[in-house]
Amino acid sequence: MRVTIFGASGLLGQALMREWSGDSVTGLGVEDGNVRDKDLVAEIVRKQQPACIVLAAAYTDVDGCEANPELAFAVNRDGALNVADAARQAGAKLLFLSSDYVFDGTKTTPYETDDARNPQSVYGRSKAEAEVRLLEILPGCCVLRTAWMFGMGGKCFPDTILKLAASRPAIDVVNDQRGCPTYSVDLARAIIQLCRKGTSGIVHVTNAGDCSWFEFAREIVKGAGLPTEVRPVSSAQIARRAPRPAYSVLSPSSSQRVGIVMPTWQDALRRYVEERKD
Ligand SMILES: NC(=O)c1ccc[n+]([C@@H]2O[C@H](COP(=O)([O-])OP(=O)(O)OC[C@H]3O[C@@H](n4cnc5c(N)ncnc54)[C@H](OP(=O)(O)O)[C@@H]3O)[C@@H](O)[C@H]2O)c1
Repeated sequence: MRVTIFGASGLLGQALMREWSGDSVTGLGVEDGNVRDKDLVAEIVRKQQPACIVLAAAYTDVDGCEANPELAFAVNRDGALNVADAARQAGAKLLFLSSDYVFDGTKTTPYETDDARNPQSVYGRSKAEAEVRLLEILPGCCVLRTAWMFGMGGKCFPDTILKLAASRPAIDVVNDQRGCPTYSVDLARAIIQLCRKGTSGIVHVTNAGDCSWFEFAREIVKGAGLPTEVRPVSSAQIARRAPRPAYSVLSPSSSQRVGIVMPTWQDALRRYVEERKD
């Protein structure tokens, strides 16, 4: 199978490039595959004729999106539409990466794929609008929602916590947002399976289990054997430009239905900490 990955230099993109073997995979970064350039995207897809396209490219700075909504929509919605148009013309399958931030976070039980979107941030709106349009243009595409990603090769929460914990006696972490940490390696493996199966529709893929950022940080510090105290605080105590959902746990039932069973986030975190030491 020929595969094209947009966003190959990102956290997930790098994991996909490392994990994907047995197929002919081309990875593109922003310099050689800017999704905002409709003609370029069409040309790339026409030349490569992939069976499957993974769209991992995005403007992912959630607070940055709030300050720069034009860029957020230009990349996350309009860029995605450019890729979807090219996929349709070439008859390629498309797997689009979306986010738990399409939900408002008012539920208290895990979000299912057919729960109503109600994004509260510009980033979430740009993803939600992309989802809706993509499913119209390409009803056979796969919209994969994931959350709280961490891994090697970029900024991520466990890396930040480990760096802070190494230099401070105590750190404050929010305890009123709940979600599902997701290791880029495990997500990449699931994406490879979904592409090979040709899965269509909306699928939720995260590591199993859920936690608050505070609980996540406590596990990170404990796992690293550091003496740092982790203190719970509320979101109101830590000013952020973009609102985050208080609860964005994604139900695994959609991925289990297509045969994807994810390891727990605690297991994934242990493997990440080991990988980080190498
Ligand atoms: N990280 C999370 O917690 C999380 C949670 C839910 C969903 N997601 C989604 O999962 C996907 C992958 O996330 P990630 O964490 O791997 O993101 P990331 O590390 O920020 O990587 C994003 C990638 O997109 C590229 N990019 C940015 N603008 C582009 C453009 N105009 N054209 C082409 N490429 C462009 C970036 O290139 P440069 O590095 O050169 O700028 C980078 O390779 C994204 O769709 C994201 O929205 C992520």
